[in-house]
Amino acid sequence: MTSFTPPIHGNNRHLPFGDQQDSAFYGRDILSVSQFDREQLTYIFDVAHEMYEMVARVGSFDLLKGKILANLFYEPSTRTSSSFTSAMERLGGSVIPINNVSYSSVTKGESLPDTVRTLEAYADVIVLRHPEVGSSALAAKYARKPVINAGDGVGEHPTQALLDLFTIREELKRVDGLTVTMMGDLRYGRTVHSLARLLTLYDVRLNYVSPDVLAMPREIMTEIEESGIPQASFTSLEPVLAETDVLYVTRVQKERLEDPNIHESLKGAYGVTTETLLRAKDKMIVMHPLPRVWEIEMAVDDDPRAAYFRQMEYGLYIRMALLAMVLGKA
Ligand code: CP
Repeated sequence: MTSFTPPIHGNNRHLPFGDQQDSAFYGRDILSVSQFDREQLTYIFDVAHEMYEMVARVGSFDLLKGKILANLFYEPSTRTSSSFTSAMERLGGSVIPINNVSYSSVTKGESLPDTVRTLEAYADVIVLRHPEVGSSALAAKYARKPVINAGDGVGEHPTQALLDLFTIREELKRVDGLTVTMMGDLRYGRTVHSLARLLTLYDVRLNYVSPDVLAMPREIMTEIEESGIPQASFTSLEPVLAETDVLYVTRVQKERLEDPNIHESLKGAYGVTTETLLRAKDKMIVMHPLPRVWEIEMAVDDDPRAAYFRQMEYGLYIRMALLAMVLGKA
């Protein structure tokens, strides 16, 4: 197995890449943001930053040579699926891609536990996206190899929340003291559920902007309240735009709406335009987990505050860090 220690730039911490099987992350599942403390997040972000510098310097390196990832997606994905593939391949490993389960034995009625037990016979780590809340936890119960939750229905998307937080840290150089405004579909948007929970580890203010029908779920608001983080809900962006440091916009998930007609009625009311940015801070960043549909007009892409394409790229470095960590190499 190749062991590689890169030169360190940009921080004072030595982050060796190589056998780290006594690490707290070795062999662990990544199922929920609630499993992390702030010290662990700092470590993940430092490793991700090293990955960022390594990719810029050498592109790919053989940290995970010989390791295999099973990428098991029961729901569509572009970014999560391809960034995990890219992460594994940039680290010298390889991937079993099951991006369309209709071509797998799932269509013959194979259960999730049996599918996972099959794949772990061939792979060292399993990345799973599934429409049901709790599916990753169920898979992890049956798997001996690490399972990484790549989105479980309207539940969580922990690797997205990690890359979101990494984006804020890289772009604004801090998280404490910021006002984060989440806008759009806060009811079904698993990315905002995970990010709001993760932000309770920091000293932030949270604003929620949505129509009542797509409001942040009560149980998540209760968790945030118990953490002592100030939060407030609005039906329009206007009252909070000027104070916002991070505007996190989400897609209205038409596929999860009980009444798809609601989708049409929301267009325009919860979108970001160049005119919106006129009233925002110069240093505010606009984030979006993507894909976007109508929530951010394309003219906004040219504004330096549009961070969503950089955010998507940061996902590669976070996923490289997580794969290296759970496989005992960082
Ligand atoms: N952000 C995100 O999860 O994108 P995909 O659905 O394309 O993976």
